[in-house]
Amino acid sequence: MQQWWKESVVYQIWPRSFADGNGDGIGDLAGIASRLDYLSSLGVDVLWLSPIYPSPQDDAGYDISDYQNIDPTFGSLEQFDALLAAVHERGMKLIMDLVVNHTSDEHPWFVESRASKDNPMRDWYWWRPAREGMNAGDPGAEPNNWGSIFSGPAWELDENTGEYYLHLFSRKQPDLNWENPEVRQAIYSMMRWWLERGVDGFRMDVINFISKDIKLPDGHVHDGSLYGDAMPYFVDGPRIHEFLQEMHREVLAGREGLITVGEMPGVTVEEAKLYTDPTRREVDMVFQFEHVQVDHGETRWDSRPLRLRDLKAVLGRWQAGLAEVGWNSLYWNNHDQPRVVSRFGDDGEHRVRSAKLLATVLHLHRGTPYIYQGEELGMTNAPFASIDDFRDIQSLNHYAEAVSTGVDPDAVLAALRVLSRDNARTPMQWDDTENAGFTTGTPWIAVNPNYKGINAQAEIADDDSVFHHYRRLIELRHTEPAVVHGDFRMLLADHDQVYAFTRGYSSTELLVLANFSGEPAAIEVPEADRWQGTELILANYPVDAAEDIQHLALRPWEARVYRGR
Ligand code: NOJ
Repeated sequence: MQQWWKESVVYQIWPRSFADGNGDGIGDLAGIASRLDYLSSLGVDVLWLSPIYPSPQDDAGYDISDYQNIDPTFGSLEQFDALLAAVHERGMKLIMDLVVNHTSDEHPWFVESRASKDNPMRDWYWWRPAREGMNAGDPGAEPNNWGSIFSGPAWELDENTGEYYLHLFSRKQPDLNWENPEVRQAIYSMMRWWLERGVDGFRMDVINFISKDIKLPDGHVHDGSLYGDAMPYFVDGPRIHEFLQEMHREVLAGREGLITVGEMPGVTVEEAKLYTDPTRREVDMVFQFEHVQVDHGETRWDSRPLRLRDLKAVLGRWQAGLAEVGWNSLYWNNHDQPRVVSRFGDDGEHRVRSAKLLATVLHLHRGTPYIYQGEELGMTNAPFASIDDFRDIQSLNHYAEAVSTGVDPDAVLAALRVLSRDNARTPMQWDDTENAGFTTGTPWIAVNPNYKGINAQAEIADDDSVFHHYRRLIELRHTEPAVVHGDFRMLLADHDQVYAFTRGYSSTELLVLANFSGEPAAIEVPEADRWQGTELILANYPVDAAEDIQHLALRPWEARVYRGR
């Protein structure tokens, strides 16, 4: 079976903040089209577009009101077709974001569904009466105790019919009822329509949430939590594999050259093996979340310092778990995560070196790497001064809920500064002109003021930049089979500062050494004899070729890759 995507690097575009072609302050398709040469010079193979469909933009486009069109803010279907052709002309592919756990409440399906209890589309969503013995609208009368991922209850009362609908995300994102075969067929037919237009696959939003336990039982209420934990009732639910296999048969089978990646919060290695085993025909790879939760405390908003050993343990487990069957995706960043250089690196003195180190470590794992716009520049978290600087619904709802329950607003703000999704959503920094060259208008969210020093134009001109380091890593994947196919062996698993591993393929072996700290790190390189005198193929410091490799002192945030044969 041809699996071209193992040799590929995917670049995620979050259109609102990538490039604005018409000066309205919001990124668009014209902007993307004007930057394709940049992407092709970076060397990426696949572009993933976050949602560009018509949407009330309650959740920045992840609330879709028409699956088969383009939001006028972003452009038109004609512009989309032209963009797709231009991407293909440059030898790249393009995948769409598929958001089918929920629609917008303004989608015609939901408008029908809410119209009356006997509407033929009523059953396309999850409608339930008030809890037994209670009146709709009374406090606590929701059908169960689930909380929404965006704060508040997961149920919204529809006054008109007196019933509640389920929304795991915002109240403007009602969950589709995948139990209903008509829903599934409508989605498959929409997917075929995009493939027939020429797109090369899908990134599937929270796709492991689509099968729910139809009893919708109350969840366990953890200490300090306002709502029940519903995850056991919708993560990797009872019919999830059946649904994905059906989707594969109905949409993907028999088409060549596609790539599918399922976003799967809460997925375990064991489940991921099932999802990505090619013989089961579900998806090519999944986005797991364990490594982006290693610095979380009790909740998503509770951050604690990274312990490198935890990160190695998680990623090492995923490498081992999918070594024989299935395939990993590799990512640090996306539009939901804070910027990795601020999170796991050092966005001050060692920004450039730590950004290169993070790139090196990630891209040399076994799996398909994803780059999120601006990551290749080492873009950082933003200096949000007050709650008014945020735009993300999850951040704003959390602030309102936490403050209303008596949490100190400054403490909530401090947590948002570290973990808010808006850190990833500030405009792409193209150059040092006003608004970082992102727009000639007023940007919808403020540009990070550090754009004068951190921008694409400056980095392209500097051969030693983060950008060129990413370019080299992508090139290495394209030219060195050990990067793609090599087995993964973790070294020094208990070391607190150093991340080290090998990748072996045929007679080639790669050694990756990375000091994840601002202090020098002394290490004994395992089997050092084998590496003495081998070729140093990538580094973020000048290295003396005659250096004794057995007793190494890695400098702050130093990363090296050796190739032995
Ligand atoms: C995951 C997406 O990545 C996120 O941005 C979105 O808010 C939720 N799914 C809901 O669609």
